[in-house]
Amino acid sequence: MYRKLLISLCLIGLTTATVTVDASQHCDCSELNQTDCAFALAYCVWNQSDSECMSYTFGCSDLTTQVLCDAAGSCKWNSGSCEDWDPSCSDGTTADLCNDIDGCYWNKSNACASFSACADYSTDNCPSSEWCSVTSGACANYSFVTCSTQTQATCQGYDTKTTRCAWANDSSCKSLARTFSACSDYNNFTSECNNQWNCVYDGSACRARKCSDASIEALCTSINTGDTTYSLCSWSNNACADAADTSALTKDNCYSKTLKNYKWSSDNKCVACDDLVDNSDSSNSVILGAFVLLALIA
Ligand SMILES: *[C@@H]1O[C@H](CO)[C@@H](O)[C@H](O)[C@H]1NC(C)=O
Ligand SMILES: *[C@@H]1O[C@H](CO)[C@@H](O)[C@H](O)[C@H]1NC(C)=O
Ligand SMILES: *[C@@H]1O[C@H](CO)[C@@H](O)[C@H](O)[C@H]1NC(C)=O
Ligand SMILES: *[C@@H]1O[C@H](CO)[C@@H](O)[C@H](O)[C@H]1NC(C)=O
Ligand SMILES: *[C@@H]1O[C@H](CO)[C@@H](O)[C@H](O)[C@H]1NC(C)=O
Ligand SMILES: *[C@@H]1O[C@H](CO)[C@@H](O)[C@H](O)[C@H]1NC(C)=O
Repeated sequence: MYRKLLISLCLIGLTTATVTVDASQHCDCSELNQTDCAFALAYCVWNQSDSECMSYTFGCSDLTTQVLCDAAGSCKWNSGSCEDWDPSCSDGTTADLCNDIDGCYWNKSNACASFSACADYSTDNCPSSEWCSVTSGACANYSFVTCSTQTQATCQGYDTKTTRCAWANDSSCKSLARTFSACSDYNNFTSECNNQWNCVYDGSACRARKCSDASIEALCTSINTGDTTYSLCSWSNNACADAADTSALTKDNCYSKTLKNYKWSSDNKCVACDDLVDNSDSSNSVILGAFVLLALIA
């Protein structure tokens, strides 16, 4: 009897198995082949001399021309080399330069400074990120909307800093949270629900999207199951279903489709990496890596 139970538990385990990957992590560089290593640009580089994939973080010093260096916002060319640069408002000597610096705005006295008040800015440099908008020819405080009095055509804008107007199922304009938290928040908002890539309106409720919702192969990719976790989908017999394993993946897509969590093994299988490393904050390395690549292509 226990044996039977054990077998059925195993069967349940098999039929519900899905491949879950975490987009916030990547395979340790040392486990990667040359192709996968190249795709891990920003985290890893291929060492030609000993044919090994090494962990690597790009910095400004990897940019060897002034043009590329200055184009990357966080670097600056200084007497023949590219250095890290953390600009402050005083570096924003023109409106364009100023607007590219985080938290700095070009005001009516042609100075670059942190935000003061909407009225201090011309309509050309009215900072929408600080809740200013151009109203009757001047830069002024954004005026919040009253959702309930709007028609379908005018149902837009914000009623508070954290909520916006949206057209609801009962043909009225209602307030809805600006940031997404759960599909069920859209139970009364059919079109808002369908506009969310993660959600689908089904019957009379908004639910999380499933692999089986994808009707064409191009949409059969993965399902977002958490902040950074995804479960993979697989296309076969003209339908999309939860991927039970990675056997359908190939040498060319194993690494990319598993969001850098699996590698192509020596016996030609797509297998989970032994060690996953946090991507941490490599966003700057990602950007600089792209600039280095640009230099190679150009
Ligand atoms: C590549 O590997 C060799 C041999 O291990 C090492 O001496 C060299 O420093 C490596 N290259 C880079 C760019 O780290
Ligand atoms: C623009 O910014 C400068 C520097 O902070 C400040 O002295 C000036 O009063 C500001 N002008 C306006 C119109 O706010
Ligand atoms: C604009 O909004 C700010 C912040 O909400 C407020 O302190 C300020 O008094 C408003 N200015 C005007 C002209 O209404
Ligand atoms: C959805 O609409 C129905 C009918 O209008 C209402 O009874 C219900 O409270 C609404 N649900 C939410 C979450 O607003
Ligand atoms: C919302 O509208 C859809 C489509 O018209 C309908 O099927 C669904 O039952 C409605 N949901 C609610 C909660 O009223
Ligand atoms: C990389 O690929 C080669 C040939 O395809 C294979 O022999 C080797 O074992 C692979 N390395 C890893 C770490 O999977």
